[in-house]
Amino acid sequence: MEKQQEAAETIRRLVWGFFLSAAIFSVFLASVLALVRRRPWCTCAICRAYVTSSWSASFPNLADYYTHLLRNSPTRTIHVHVLNSTITANPSNVEHILRTRFDIYPKGPAFSAILGDLLGRGIFNADGDMWHFQRKLSLRVFSVSALRTFCSLEINSVLRQRLLPLLRLHRASPLSPFDLQSAFRRFTIDAVSAVALGLDPESHSTLLSAFSDAFEVAATLSAARAASPAPFIWRVKRLLCLGTERCLRKEILRVDAFAHRIIGCRRLLPKGQDLLSRFMASVDDDDYLRDIIVSFFLAGRDTVASALAGIFHLLLRYPAAVTAIRQEIVDRAVSADGDGGVVASWDQLREMSYVHAVVHEGMRLFPPIQFDSKFCAEDDVLPDGTFVRKGKRVTYHAYAMGRMEEEWGEDYGEFRPERWLRDGVFSPESPFKYPVFQGGQRQCVGKELAIMVMKAVVVAVIGEFDVELVDGKKTARFLPGLTATLQGGLPVTLCRRRLDGGVG
Ligand code: HEM
Repeated sequence: MEKQQEAAETIRRLVWGFFLSAAIFSVFLASVLALVRRRPWCTCAICRAYVTSSWSASFPNLADYYTHLLRNSPTRTIHVHVLNSTITANPSNVEHILRTRFDIYPKGPAFSAILGDLLGRGIFNADGDMWHFQRKLSLRVFSVSALRTFCSLEINSVLRQRLLPLLRLHRASPLSPFDLQSAFRRFTIDAVSAVALGLDPESHSTLLSAFSDAFEVAATLSAARAASPAPFIWRVKRLLCLGTERCLRKEILRVDAFAHRIIGCRRLLPKGQDLLSRFMASVDDDDYLRDIIVSFFLAGRDTVASALAGIFHLLLRYPAAVTAIRQEIVDRAVSADGDGGVVASWDQLREMSYVHAVVHEGMRLFPPIQFDSKFCAEDDVLPDGTFVRKGKRVTYHAYAMGRMEEEWGEDYGEFRPERWLRDGVFSPESPFKYPVFQGGQRQCVGKELAIMVMKAVVVAVIGEFDVELVDGKKTARFLPGLTATLQGGLPVTLCRRRLDGGVG
């Protein structure tokens, strides 16, 4: 009997040993294969320049280096082997990955690994049914009728009560330049809080700033993972909770805590038309609501602020465009309110083709999301003939695409809003040539809202103030992050105008 038991124990150990060794061997094999695919040792010129950052001797930003490479590639497609990524600026390829073969280009596991800890199951990180559900509900919040009624009222009130009073405080003080980029950031936090969370930015300012600060650090640390040529380093640090990964974990816990407090605050208020109220009506899992909030915060907050900073960085170098905006304000009969604020109604904004063109032209040269990657789920061939192996990242580069001569003409480097107008009427471009809001099935759901907000800000600021850049010759340099942020901000001086054209 004892012998039988011993034999059974030996067999059990052998079976366990076999499975354990097989598991270790599979993990080892998978790691070797992943490493072989990524080719971290690649020494081709592009990979070497990326790994050693030698591109920075000739280009102000990595995006400018990629633009140079893409312009010189006959197919407008390049490969960065150390990132396991194919990068394209070819509109046919972009249409292929975003629309035609949307089914085989999901966000994929790499994106999920990088941003999953912060975004959880939120729309930005979701594929399949979970994505469908969130997309359907959010489209209702951003429908044309909701934009005209709820959203435009909320935005105008945030403009009147938050952004304009802040700018007025800093007018006519040339000795103390004012950072317009950070004012735009504060404004968009307030605007997203009002529209997406249904919270009054004034009365909940402490909670919203704390949430926003924790979110910002967590988003920056998450983005740093994506730039790493050796992802196993951050994965090991994450496993052992070391260094930046330790900080990230701490910040995500703060984001969680503040998000749950926001949900609690919203529950105490009457139901509204805001996004959080709508989701609360169908979701009773607070952790899921937390994920939804975080995705919308990421989507709306930095993108709009970044776009506005880029638009003003360009606009203030082109006085003729400023004059044309002021003419359109007069033509559309937008008059100053009691405080001297030039806040246009939704209908007036809709009629403003030139301002519409200014916003699009600004984002052509400075798209807030400079590039975006998809994961190739099966072997594929792009329309330009590029073979893409299953498991590879395919990135479309919106920044480079806005700077291609064959698409935009010889003056592609100039800020010229008129290129968007035919007989004075705005004429849109294909989203695959201009994928600033992405295109196809996952096009940005906040696009119309974002455009309306940016137009309202351009009209209000240019209508009420004379704005001058402190250093009009400075080249734009961007900080690393998920959205483009101008290094050093956007320092300006402000003078209040009188509507007769004088300075108040
Ligand atoms: C200038 C401002 C904006 C730009 C340039 C922009 C751009 C983009 C881009 C490129 C994507 C695709 C990202 C990806 O799939 O990885 C996206 C998705 C999205 N955007 Fe925006 N966005 C802006 C403003 C907003 C605003 C204000 C909101 C709402 C508050 C918003 C909500 C979303 C959502 C929910 C998605 C995910 C859509 C999906 O996956 O189905 N965006 N946006």
